[in-house]
Amino acid sequence: MKKKWSGRFKKQLSNSFIRYTMSIKTDRRLALIDIICNIAHCNMLRKIGIITIKEKYKVIRILENIFKRVKEKKLKWRKELEDIHLNIERKVVNKSKKLGFKIRTARSRNDLSTTELRIWLKNKTKDIFEILKKLIKTIIKLSIKSKNIVIPSLTHFQLAQPIMLSHYWLCYKNMFFRDLLRFKNSYIFTDQLPLGSGAVSGTSFKIDRKYLSKKLRFKKISSNSIDGVSDRDYVVDFCFSCSMCILHISRLCEEIVIFSSKLIDFISIDDRYCSGSSMMPQKKNPDIFEVMRSKTGIIISGLISIMIIMKGLPLAYNKDYQEDKRICFNTSDEIYISIKMLNKVITKLKFRKKKLKKASKMDFTIATDLAEYLTKKGMSYRKSHELVSTLVNKFEKKGSFKKINKKELNKVTSNKYVLKFIRKYNIYNIVNKKTSIGGTSIKQIKSEIKRSIREIKSIKI
Ligand code: ARG
Repeated sequence: MKKKWSGRFKKQLSNSFIRYTMSIKTDRRLALIDIICNIAHCNMLRKIGIITIKEKYKVIRILENIFKRVKEKKLKWRKELEDIHLNIERKVVNKSKKLGFKIRTARSRNDLSTTELRIWLKNKTKDIFEILKKLIKTIIKLSIKSKNIVIPSLTHFQLAQPIMLSHYWLCYKNMFFRDLLRFKNSYIFTDQLPLGSGAVSGTSFKIDRKYLSKKLRFKKISSNSIDGVSDRDYVVDFCFSCSMCILHISRLCEEIVIFSSKLIDFISIDDRYCSGSSMMPQKKNPDIFEVMRSKTGIIISGLISIMIIMKGLPLAYNKDYQEDKRICFNTSDEIYISIKMLNKVITKLKFRKKKLKKASKMDFTIATDLAEYLTKKGMSYRKSHELVSTLVNKFEKKGSFKKINKKELNKVTSNKYVLKFIRKYNIYNIVNKKTSIGGTSIKQIKSEIKRSIREIKSIKI
């Protein structure tokens, strides 16, 4: 088959070259956007007098018809036409040779392909933003619901201090809120129109880029034609936002997998989201969280791929960029469905309150509170830390201060406040003493919940 630029070539294209370099299999997803860009471009060509009004209406009618047929999935794409842009152009040529040959005036596929990817990505970023907002709202609700559940916190995966389950959820809320800001930011970088940059240096036709940006709903217009066609930072930014988000998801999934194991048994997962084993009849596996955790590998590999593709690339357009679409499509599909699934399954988790409460008191988790109490009564923190760690060391087997009786205690210390603390402390009081900003007391949690509700209501893309 003859290509439009085949005047330059003496030989026919090799079939294996076509198969290896074509992108239609991937960028067919941009078909509708390609037509929208074509319509905007034709309107602009009319505005600056390159086509007549009659020609404009004719070509737009043809394009609208193609649009309809794409939607009805009635069109076939030809791989020898390489990509979606040449495929659509050919369909216009088939209806009107004269017009089909005119529509590529004053533009190149270099500026067209990145424009279309930006439009696609802006839409997807909005979708992801909205579903992530939903997830954050769900987490805030979970936090409200779990205001009186005490759980142990861990550092180094060892029991640390008692906290409220609400507080734990609000930590994930913070992580996902930061992701939301990252998506908002990557959206801003994406919202720039490169169309009109031509192949690399702009065009001598008196095109109206402001008009194009209005029609295609871009906030900004790229200010350098070289940058316009070679910038893929917005793809990196998008992939980075997705990577951070899935990384956060994977941490939560990992915790759910561990805490639902019978070894620990703090959480139980709804049967609908678990699977059994074909061999071991007793098994109930946390599949959904494992699959979600594994998506981290897929999504981060997208980020690494685009960064490696861009590394050392000379200006301006290079065909290497063609892979940007596959990465964006895959990354966006994976992150969207993962957030959606997570939003569903976390509401179905059951927390074993009694076990959690018991664990939150185990292994001297209130040792820091005893040391702080003694310091408030006049002992230096250095000394109280030493005394409490000696007590823990001496009575390690008991696992709790409550199990130490007066006689045993007197052998180690005569400090009356130690006994007083041991007799009167209760886990809720201890948690509620953490009134520092961002601490785990109910007072702080309540104000953080209020602030979070306000914050999530007002954030928009
Ligand atoms: N399919 C190409 C891409 O996605 C379109 C741009 C091709 N430009 C070119 N000069 N060959 O990047």
